[in-house]
Amino acid sequence: MDKSELIFPAIDQIPEKYRIKFPIKQREYLLNGNIENWYGEFRDVFSPVYIENSGKSDNYIGSYPMMGSKEALEALDAAENAYSHGKGEWPSMTVEERIGSIRKFVLLMKEQRETVVNLLMWEIGKSLADSQKEFDRTVDYINDTIEALKNLDRESSRFTISDGIIAQIRRAPLGVVLCMGPYNYPLNETFATLIPALIMGNTVIFKPPKLGVLLHYPLLKAFKEAFPKGVVNTVYGRGANVISPIMESGRINVLAFIGSSKVADSLKQLHPKPHRLKSVLGLEAKNPAIILKDADIDETVKECITGALSYNGQRCTALKLIYVHENIAAEFVSKLSSEVEKLKKGMPWDENVKITPLPEPGKSEYLTELINDAVNNGATLVNPNGGKYNKSFFFPAILNNVNDKMKVYHEEQFGPVIPVITYKDIQEPLDYVTNSDYGQQASIFGNDPDYIATLIDTLVNQVCRVNVNSQCQRGPDNFPFTGRKDSAEATLSIYDALRVFSIRTLVAAKENEGNKKIIHDILKDDKSNFLSTDFIL
Ligand code: G3H
Repeated sequence: MDKSELIFPAIDQIPEKYRIKFPIKQREYLLNGNIENWYGEFRDVFSPVYIENSGKSDNYIGSYPMMGSKEALEALDAAENAYSHGKGEWPSMTVEERIGSIRKFVLLMKEQRETVVNLLMWEIGKSLADSQKEFDRTVDYINDTIEALKNLDRESSRFTISDGIIAQIRRAPLGVVLCMGPYNYPLNETFATLIPALIMGNTVIFKPPKLGVLLHYPLLKAFKEAFPKGVVNTVYGRGANVISPIMESGRINVLAFIGSSKVADSLKQLHPKPHRLKSVLGLEAKNPAIILKDADIDETVKECITGALSYNGQRCTALKLIYVHENIAAEFVSKLSSEVEKLKKGMPWDENVKITPLPEPGKSEYLTELINDAVNNGATLVNPNGGKYNKSFFFPAILNNVNDKMKVYHEEQFGPVIPVITYKDIQEPLDYVTNSDYGQQASIFGNDPDYIATLIDTLVNQVCRVNVNSQCQRGPDNFPFTGRKDSAEATLSIYDALRVFSIRTLVAAKENEGNKKIIHDILKDDKSNFLSTDFIL
């Protein structure tokens, strides 16, 4: 393959249904139940997909508002007023009423599927199949969250009696939640915190990630129509201008952030009373694959390619370092290389495409720097086309004989570079896991149950998910997703998220005739939303 094979299309080579009328100049933002128009500064949006036109190429696709601290604090006021110390319309609604609003939102959201999927492809270069999956997975997540809340509500509709005290224990909202998702799952991972936060009765400010902004714009109307005013507010702009003043105000109760630990730490430190802030963080990771000498090589190669290169390796759960036993290293690396070379490269809408352009500016140059640094320190670039690139279009590179002197050993590459290390003694990969700053997941490939069992028992206290003969991943969404060390704070899953965005609150009374009568009267006439034995079927 020649570098010139990494080519971008001319406009007439793009199937009609994936052509969007660019540029999209987004002026609108959602504030206090109104879709407002912005007349200030804008930020340009550039696609990872360039369009070739008579020897020139272009990737400008639109712009979005660059709001300032004034507008950010207006969003905060709106969210705080809507919460109103827990007495606002939204936090005091019944669970059934809140579920009704979320259902309305899902219906309106589904109408925007095609537009959002198209924008996912154009803004972050995700393939059509993966963009559709991201949208559908999000819809499923919302529906499953509704079912999980119904279960939770059924469980909490009972009274508990202990030591002569009668109590009803439920979960209550926490206040104003700031939601910030990552660019690789701009829709799904923003909604994975936003929806549970909302359904539990909190109000929300959300800021889309730096890349993957415009795709939220078709959903503003759905938010406006489905929720009472001020319950959902959007802010756009530089973190320092919009997020810092919000955090410095001390009026945020939960920070839901998926991104780097450096940014998470700096945001948390801005809060004047950090003990009041609950944080839900999904951070960086460098999950290793540990390939044992008896692993099935063909199956392992397949799983490592999916693990390392799905969405071009831009997943926090991606396999970012491969340890292979010396007995099978040569065969594994050679098969890995020939399979990687066969991966179909192309534009996001191309059928069965696996390798697509990368959205982060300067990413190809960064990956090239990692490769050069590794090669200068003794690594071998294995596959013939590895590391070739044209602008944002980068062909995956396999690096063999990687060691701890190389940047790629330490840094989270978050892209299509696969570092491989041959080991003799199993202690080498285990030491890597122990000494790593990250603690999300690991994958073991092998066939001996006794040996695998000892590795499982060592690894489960270092990471939060050990995958056997399977790539690392977050899903299914009802499994707990979390990490140790610099990889996460709190746990997300359909079940856990409802708990993360709420606090257990109870009403308790000494079990005597007078109190029983009071409780009975409240229940009989449905006088309270909280103290109630009603439940949703
Ligand atoms: O980027 C991190 C994501 O949470 C990974 O999710 O394993 O479903 O691709 P995934």
